Amino acid sequence: MPQAKLIESAQTARAAPPCAADSPVKIPGYLQETYRWAYLSEGWRRVLDRPSVVSAILWGNANRLMDTAIAEFEPGSHVLQTACVYGDFSARLARRVGAAGRLEVIDVAPLQIDNCRRKLADYPHVRLRVVDASRHDGAGYDGVCCFFLLHEVPEDYKRRIVDRLLASLRPGGKAVFVDYHRPRNSHPLRPIMRLVFRRLEPYAEALWRHDIASYATRAADYAWHKETYFGGLYQKTVAVSSGQ
Ligand SMILES: C[S@@+](CC[C@H](N)C(=O)[O-])C[C@H]1O[C@@H](n2cnc3c(N)ncnc32)[C@H](O)[C@@H]1O
Repeated sequence: MPQAKLIESAQTARAAPPCAADSPVKIPGYLQETYRWAYLSEGWRRVLDRPSVVSAILWGNANRLMDTAIAEFEPGSHVLQTACVYGDFSARLARRVGAAGRLEVIDVAPLQIDNCRRKLADYPHVRLRVVDASRHDGAGYDGVCCFFLLHEVPEDYKRRIVDRLLASLRPGGKAVFVDYHRPRNSHPLRPIMRLVFRRLEPYAEALWRHDIASYATRAADYAWHKETYFGGLYQKTVAVSSGQ
């Protein structure tokens, strides 16, 4: 094995969480059919995994949206991030919770977890696992962060993911969803985004019609707050679990 490969393997082993080898996880059909090129291909991963690309995809709003999501979590808290994100989102979140806290990152695609593990090798308080967010069964988290995942999954997955994430909070814990939202009627990007969704992102436009709270079976058990950004095209929806 070449030396560089050996060093990489050693780093990967050091950064690997104690129970990375979860039972085999099935890649959902929608991911294989609609997003294979973006998330299951190493070539495209290399192209897309840059802050500049993420910024362009979000029309220059990536930093602002990441900052507002991350600011919701307290230093020292135990946070679950429900899918990998291209660019430096997880590293920022890891710095926010700090060494006194814990960050768990899950993703259903092994390629994405391997990539994220490389990016987070300097943060020993981060744990990464291959898990389908719609089947995640953890509990007791102070916070859960769902950054631009819901628009990429079909409606039944949206419901299951929202329910699973809310159920994983401790009493008083907080779930933060940042995603697309219905832009105002006069928004100049509205027709462009509609075209993009219809061509490339078939599950996204539902978020123009439905509040994220409406996907929760037990919505009344949480206090909901929504803010929109960039003419309504993006939202941050926060759900706080009742109780202490
Ligand atoms: C967070 S979303 C999109 C984020 C954003 N477009 C970006 O810049 O990366 C993309 C990730 O969601 C993951 N994903 C899709 N469905 C999932 C599921 N059911 N559970 C966990 N991860 C999932 C994909 O594998 C991919 O890594």
